[in-house]
Amino acid sequence: MEEILNSKFYITTPIYYVNDVPHIGHAYTTIIADTLARYHRIQNEEVWFLTGTDEHGQKIQQSAEKNNKNPKEYVDEISAKFKNLWDSFGISYDAFIRTTDSYHKESVRNVFSKMFKKGDIYKGEYEGNYCISCESFFAKSQLINHKNCPDCGKETNLLKEESYFFKLSAYEDRLLQWIESNPDCILPRMRRNEVINFIKEGLEDLSITRTSFDWGIKLPSEIESNDSKFVMYVWLDALVNYLSALGYENSKENKMEFWPANYHLVGKDILRFHAVYWPAFLMSLELPLPKHIAAHGWWTKEGAKMSKSIGNVVNPKEVVDLYGIDCFRYFVLREVPFGQDGDFSQKALIERFNADLGNDLGNLLNRLLGMGAKYFNNSLQVDLKSYKQSFEAESTTIKTILGSLKNFMNEVQIHRYLEELWKIFSLGNGIIAKKEPWKLIKEQKEQEVAELLVFIANLLIKGALCLYPCMPDSAKKILSVFGLEASAQNYLNFILDDKILSQVSLNPIPALFPKIEETPIETKETNLKTNNKQTSKETLKALTIENPISKEDFAKIEIKIGTIIEAEALPKSEKLLKLKVDLGESRTRQILAGIKAYYAPQDLIGKQVCVLANLKPAKLMGEISEGMILAAKDSEGLSFIMPQNPRENGTQIS
Ligand code: MSP
Repeated sequence: MEEILNSKFYITTPIYYVNDVPHIGHAYTTIIADTLARYHRIQNEEVWFLTGTDEHGQKIQQSAEKNNKNPKEYVDEISAKFKNLWDSFGISYDAFIRTTDSYHKESVRNVFSKMFKKGDIYKGEYEGNYCISCESFFAKSQLINHKNCPDCGKETNLLKEESYFFKLSAYEDRLLQWIESNPDCILPRMRRNEVINFIKEGLEDLSITRTSFDWGIKLPSEIESNDSKFVMYVWLDALVNYLSALGYENSKENKMEFWPANYHLVGKDILRFHAVYWPAFLMSLELPLPKHIAAHGWWTKEGAKMSKSIGNVVNPKEVVDLYGIDCFRYFVLREVPFGQDGDFSQKALIERFNADLGNDLGNLLNRLLGMGAKYFNNSLQVDLKSYKQSFEAESTTIKTILGSLKNFMNEVQIHRYLEELWKIFSLGNGIIAKKEPWKLIKEQKEQEVAELLVFIANLLIKGALCLYPCMPDSAKKILSVFGLEASAQNYLNFILDDKILSQVSLNPIPALFPKIEETPIETKETNLKTNNKQTSKETLKALTIENPISKEDFAKIEIKIGTIIEAEALPKSEKLLKLKVDLGESRTRQILAGIKAYYAPQDLIGKQVCVLANLKPAKLMGEISEGMILAAKDSEGLSFIMPQNPRENGTQIS
């Protein structure tokens, strides 16, 4: 195993607020982190994977009061729910931190003292608006209608209190320099500008204590006596978890050799805390900065924001109980490009399950097991030289695909990792369809069939080892067919050294992904695509196009050229611009487009775009939208689809 550097790899999730039970968003972050942790472990790296719960602050204190519990009793209960859920999901964390743990409190106080001694903390008076839900301060100019939180929309409270401040403003230049000289420190890269702009707008010093409640860590006794009114600002308390878990400035076992973190995984809503405040704190402590802060998007439920009051919050446990952990993992990892928002629906989950897992991967394994048992009594042997000649081109393709996976994982583009990996399973199904082994057997070409099946076996071994980080249970089951384990040694042999087996014994297992027929949690969704692609013509299978539509279907769609004549931001929305578009009709159309992050309104005036003109009008944030502008979005950003040369407004696209 000397070839692989036994390096250290530290990955963290945010620590979750215990004001509520875990939901799909928490499960999503945790599953991505688990995938990266497993990927690095199977490469023989020494991994430290940290998750946990964030248990102080006014929001938690209020939730405890609402539930008639004292805060400690309340946080113990909810924190256990998170831990139990991760255990039941098989999440491979190495440590679960709670901010109420005494070693953590010790660290936070010592961090405060260090920054204070360095001159980075001073006492002053804070006056500003505070959002309890986001545990965040905002300047008047940032508020919606001078009152509401720009992040969550809830009403803020005006606070005036004595406070300690961290000299964030002093770190402006160093922060910019760090981000600019480390292009990958914020992933996906499109989010960097957002952070750069935030810093360039000017950083104010950060209030890092509170006095209006007491559920928090007290200040160090050499700065404020124990009975003082000050408690630590919950974000300072929380961020320090990434160090306190490693024994930084506390009496716990020292694991600082894992620092700096390789990845802090976060949701886009808390990127600012991690990419601005946290690095500034670390600079003050004179510690190296994290290598990557990777921000994922948000999940909605069938198009709507998840909220307790609407009652549409997806409970990950319910989904896993119904479909299994690996199906859930596959869905969340594959469905959404990392960094973008995604929509959860059972219909989409079942479609992915039946198509990718059932038809592609499950079917390939079943074919191998079926033919292996029927034609060779589960025992296959071929001449390696002849085998290599027969499958030279395919083996090279597989090697190239597997070689490309690393970059995707490093950039947390796990959807792309899976997409590429699936190409080898399609290749396997395609070659079976092409060679038609059932005919070859009738023609007594047994050796040819044996070579084909050994090729599929080798393909599945390699595929399963690469699938392991994303779907550990299924990968282990596939490997068990060949008497193998998901180990670093096997990864080294089969993936890095491209080992090929010429002799294979098959241990049959039950079908891995039997087809799901219906949608059990909610009302049955109509139009459920059944994916009955099991056509008798095996050749057609290799040519299958996902979600095919007919010409008649396409004819129903009216896409027209239009010119944007007015554009403005929709004040209440983070994402939407309100556009007036001339489609050559007697009146202009109003169209709302979720492009605020990509286009400044003034830059759009006069631009010609492609508009889906017969989309049913819809109301968004109280405004009518009468069409959709076509755009292409990838990890680098979004751009409108525009005609190459000017065309008359209303011109139909066909
Ligand atoms: N306690 C802070 C984090 C402190 S880290 C030092 C916190 N906790 S949280 O429980 O509110 O959120 C934790 C994570 O869940 C965030 O990364 C957030 O983006 C994510 N999600 C919450 N709702 C979500 C969705 N609907 N979809 C995807 N992730 C979302 O913030």
